Amino acid sequence: MSFAHRHLLGIEQLKPQDITTILDLAESYVDLNRQAAKHADVLAGLTQINMFFEASTRTQASFELAGKRLGADVMNMSMQASSIKKGETLIDTALTLNAMHPDLLVVRHPHSGAVDLLAQKVNCAVLNAGDGRHEHPTQALLDGLTIRRAKGRLHRLTVAICGDIAHSRVARSNILLLGKMENRIRLIGPPTLMPARIGEFGVEVHEDMAEGLAGVDVVMMLRLQKERMDGGFIPSEREYYHLWGLDAEKLALAAPDAIVMHPGPMNRGVEIDGTLADDINRSVIQDQVEMGVAVRMAAMELLARNLAAARTP
Ligand code: NCD
Repeated sequence: MSFAHRHLLGIEQLKPQDITTILDLAESYVDLNRQAAKHADVLAGLTQINMFFEASTRTQASFELAGKRLGADVMNMSMQASSIKKGETLIDTALTLNAMHPDLLVVRHPHSGAVDLLAQKVNCAVLNAGDGRHEHPTQALLDGLTIRRAKGRLHRLTVAICGDIAHSRVARSNILLLGKMENRIRLIGPPTLMPARIGEFGVEVHEDMAEGLAGVDVVMMLRLQKERMDGGFIPSEREYYHLWGLDAEKLALAAPDAIVMHPGPMNRGVEIDGTLADDINRSVIQDQVEMGVAVRMAAMELLARNLAAARTP
């Protein structure tokens, strides 16, 4: 099992074989995580620091559990309370932590590119837990694993990614991953929430849900990222739901066995109908959360094996 990377900064840097390597190893952790005793001590003695400069529930909790189940010493830095508030720069904070000899640094930051920059300044493995609108690689990997398990494969599927594409690092990482694995991608949403020149990424773009959802195997909904908007992107939440919110009626246009995904947190009644989100016959939203822990365990294990290389200057 070879995985020749020092960091996990984005899907962009991964080859299809790297993606398969992570997902295959994650499968074994799905089984372990369903046991009563969930420990594998492959990170024993290593120190993992989680630095979240942006709010997170699922991602932070699952990175913490993943590290603990693998036996690492895990520390969660509360970035609200840290010296950042006193004006210390991201790089100074990173250098300070680096002096404490962490082995794995998990970072979420509101600025695109901030995690790549940080990775250049430290001598441990860095995992991007979401940087601005740029990438969220472990989310795309856990989505990939969820799709592979539900559909039996992760290639030659038609996947619709719907809603606020423009502000979404989840969409970006998924477009890269699904493209590398040779799937067809349709982006659906209002033109105001579609990134400029997105057509160049080898995807189909639709404004109309009925048109875009026709026959798809996977429907991936996205949260309206209100915190990244400065107003004027959508007419009203009510109208948005009417046109682009997923309900049973719109889902009926997809393939009869199409699955419904959402990275969370959900705005029920804005981008997705609450009952549909909870329908275990169609929705794999809880599976996504479960796969998140397994994928993060796999990614951290693979990076930890390369730590010696990561440390050479
Ligand atoms: C996503 C994120 O933070 O990018 N959430 C997550 O990691 N599960 C999506 C979102 O915030 O909408």
